[in-house]
Amino acid sequence: MQPTILVTGGAGFIGSNFTLQWIAEEKTPLINFDKLTYAGNPENLRSLISEPLYSFHQGDICDRESFRSLLKEAAPRAIVHFAAESHVDRSIRGPDDFIRTNIDGTFSLVEEARAYWAELSASEQQAFRFLHVSTDEVYGSLGPQDAPFHESSTYAPNSPYSASKAGADHLVRAYHHTYALPTLTTNCSNNYGPYQFPFLTRFLPMIPWFLTSNSSLL
Ligand SMILES: NC(=O)c1ccc[n+]([C@@H]2O[C@H](COP(=O)([O-])OP(=O)(O)OC[C@H]3O[C@@H](n4cnc5c(N)ncnc54)[C@H](O)[C@@H]3O)[C@@H](O)[C@H]2O)c1
Repeated sequence: MQPTILVTGGAGFIGSNFTLQWIAEEKTPLINFDKLTYAGNPENLRSLISEPLYSFHQGDICDRESFRSLLKEAAPRAIVHFAAESHVDRSIRGPDDFIRTNIDGTFSLVEEARAYWAELSASEQQAFRFLHVSTDEVYGSLGPQDAPFHESSTYAPNSPYSASKAGADHLVRAYHHTYALPTLTTNCSNNYGPYQFPFLTRFLPMIPWFLTSNSSLL
């Protein structure tokens, strides 16, 4: 049996692109753990329906028991954590789900990952990774003349979304420093591309009426 990776939020925009690319290029097993909120779209992964390397488990990252039993069953060599409430405007209208999923959910995952990792052999512990996918929005906003952010930029989240992601980043960092859990955190900028939920295209605004009536701008 080849080593498995466990992905959270694999039915979302970036998670589904990652999943498809992983199966196509790495050709090793991947389990997708996703709640299927409004942002999760199983259609993104339709091409994997009869793919033996892929399996799907519907679940909430805040449900520790469910995640724990999946860890036990799947024995992954890595966890890639995409699952989040990710839309800044929604976080302004209703922050509750963002705090729950992004902070409580990430806490649940690192706690369960820590307990799982502690039981691995020394060589498995060394090889294990918990990859937390975060955002550059934890660093705040840049003006046109400002220098780019870097990994040591000061955290200055400006929305409930970025504050919840910053809270998650700090938890992941703390689990590395306190318990030596092998974690990685990425803080990428906005992405765009296939399988993106139409109203979440932050990078390229959805204003076709504007473009069609101003074709000289195209
Ligand atoms: N899209 C971007 O431009 C961008 C930029 C920087 C960072 N990020 C980060 O990358 C990650 C993925 O972003 P995305 O745009 O693909 O998000 P998305 O909103 O498209 O997908 C999120 C996925 O997580 C799932 N999910 C939500 N709550 C869950 C829960 N409680 N339990 C289990 N699954 C749950 C959803 O069903 C969905 O499939 C997020 O952590 C986001 O913060 C995204």
